[in-house]
Amino acid sequence: MFAMQSIDMPNIDFEGIMRHLTETGKRTHQLWLTAESMAFIARGREYRSEFHVNPSYEIQYSIKGDLNLHYRTPEGVEKIAHVPEGSCLFQPPLVPHSPRFAPDAFQFVIERARVAGDIDRFFWYCLNCDHFLHEESYVVDDYRADPVTQAYRNFYQSEDFRTCKKCATVMPAPDSL
Ligand SMILES: [Fe+2]
Repeated sequence: MFAMQSIDMPNIDFEGIMRHLTETGKRTHQLWLTAESMAFIARGREYRSEFHVNPSYEIQYSIKGDLNLHYRTPEGVEKIAHVPEGSCLFQPPLVPHSPRFAPDAFQFVIERARVAGDIDRFFWYCLNCDHFLHEESYVVDDYRADPVTQAYRNFYQSEDFRTCKKCATVMPAPDSL
């Protein structure tokens, strides 16, 4: 037998949270964070260009709209996994991935909670020649801090980070994040 300390069972209203994200312009809403897992709803980012590498699996469910999950193979080849609305993709840990979906599309994402020493990394590559451009790294212990937006701010605020050292192409920055 075990004694349950409390019963906390978030029951997620997808429609309500999608409406909240649309009305506030926010990109993510954390649903729960326990010692073992974290979950959030994400709204698409029109400027998404980076590849995220993290130590957790990711369960990515397309609640509304389709997802094109760009990812890079161990050989560095970029591929796309298509995840239509109503379907779900399981992505193993450490796959460089870039979830591309529209600002009016929504993903329900579940990940393992990070443990001490876990680092999330964000990589950018040149859109012209695919040469490595820049890396940002973060300890993602809570999605309420919106680490993706922070990484983008740092990247886009620096023209040097966005300039390819091989072919000199500059990745354009969006008007706003
Ligand atoms: Fe380049």
